Amino acid sequence: MTERTLVLIKPDGVERSLVGDIISRIERKGLTLVALELKTASDEVARGHYAEHADKPFFPSLLEFITSGPLVAAVLEGPRAIAAFRQIAGGTDPVEKAVPGTIRGDLALNTQYNLVHGSDSPESAEREIAIWFPELAG
Ligand code: PPS
Repeated sequence: MTERTLVLIKPDGVERSLVGDIISRIERKGLTLVALELKTASDEVARGHYAEHADKPFFPSLLEFITSGPLVAAVLEGPRAIAAFRQIAGGTDPVEKAVPGTIRGDLALNTQYNLVHGSDSPESAEREIAIWFPELAG
C-alpha cells in the first residue's frame, strides 16, 4: 500500500551538515522524495505541527528549538512509508530507544536534538502535509 509521510530534518540536522547523510538513508531505504524544501518554521506553523504536545512540559522548549533556524521539510512516498521512515529514524530517545543503524541511533544523543521527525499515523501525515506543503494536500 503506497503511503505518504511528512519528514522534517530538524534545525540540528541542518546545523550539523547531516542533510545529505539523512537523505541518502531515505533514498537507500527505497522511499521516494515527492517534495523537499529548506524552510524556517514560523511560530504559527510550529504550534500547528506540534499541537498534540501543547500541554507537555517540554512544549515551549520544543517550539523554540524547531523555530531556531532552517530545517528541511519533505514528503516521502512508498509502501508503508510512515512505518518505514520511523524504522530508519529510530526511537525518540536516541540513546535509550534508537538502535545503532538508525539515524538517531547513529547520529544523535539527546531527545530534543534528535535530528528528524516523521509522521506517526496516516491522519498525522495528512494533517502535517497540509501544514508544510498545502499545495500537496487533498
Ligand atoms: S510523548 O510525550 O510520548 O507524546 O512525546 P514523544 O512522542 O516521545 O515526543 C514528541 C516530540 O517531542 C520531542 N520531545 C522532547 N523535546 C524536548 N524535550 C523533551 N524532554 C522531549 N521529549 C520529547 C520529541 O523529539 C518528539 O519530536 P518529534 O519531532 O515528534 O519526533
